[in-house]
Amino acid sequence: AERSVQVKLVLLGEAAVGKSSVVLRFVSNEFQANKEPTIGAAFLTQKCRLEDRVLRYEIWDTAGQERFHSLAPMYYRNAQAAVVVYDVTKASSLEKAKTWVKELQRQANPNIVIALAGNKVDLVQPSSSSSGAATPETEDEADDATATPGENAGAAGSEPETLRQVPREEAEAYAQEAGLLFFETSAKTGDGIVEMFTEIAKKIPID
Ligand code: GTP
Ligand code: MG
Repeated sequence: AERSVQVKLVLLGEAAVGKSSVVLRFVSNEFQANKEPTIGAAFLTQKCRLEDRVLRYEIWDTAGQERFHSLAPMYYRNAQAAVVVYDVTKASSLEKAKTWVKELQRQANPNIVIALAGNKVDLVQPSSSSSGAATPETEDEADDATATPGENAGAAGSEPETLRQVPREEAEAYAQEAGLLFFETSAKTGDGIVEMFTEIAKKIPID
């Protein structure tokens, strides 16, 4: 028979970076375009199956609004894992994430497994193998006398990469130096979400 271990996990991060959406994707495989801000915190559970064991995550999804900051220690106290979320389209949210990491490293369980999640990566990646309508065919640089100069000349809807404010390499380097797991995620598409919770689970010591 398999052993099922409870793992207390807390999500922290600036308001609106997508903490609740990441959890909703992980727990229900759903996404809500207009998710309301969390008040206080929300509690959810989800099993996570590894090769040799099953974990039951007990997830505290905290509220990012500054007025709730003082509640956070109640939720990260005794947590075995934390996901600190930022938004790849908002540089200031990475700075906020770094302050959460420092607070966790000073005040949480010294063995806590911390993951840094750069969420909303769907906003900065061309959607793979979707409609195709906006996919540029060729880049014919030569003899293109009629092309309009400027980055938006293609007018293929939007220019996704221009939204990115946090280079992946920068966040990844910070995560490595601070001893964190690192993922880029999208609650909207599901990219990276199950992978992140699974990699965290693998790091939880068996006792
Ligand atoms: P607080 O509860 O106030 O701390 O916010 P939160 O971090 O829980 O953010 P929430 O999940 O409520 O998401 C905020 C907004 O961002 C919502 O409108 C979501 O639909 C949107 N959102 C969340 N994740 C993603 C994502 O991966 N991609 C995109 N495009 N939008 C997202
Ligand atoms: Mg929330």
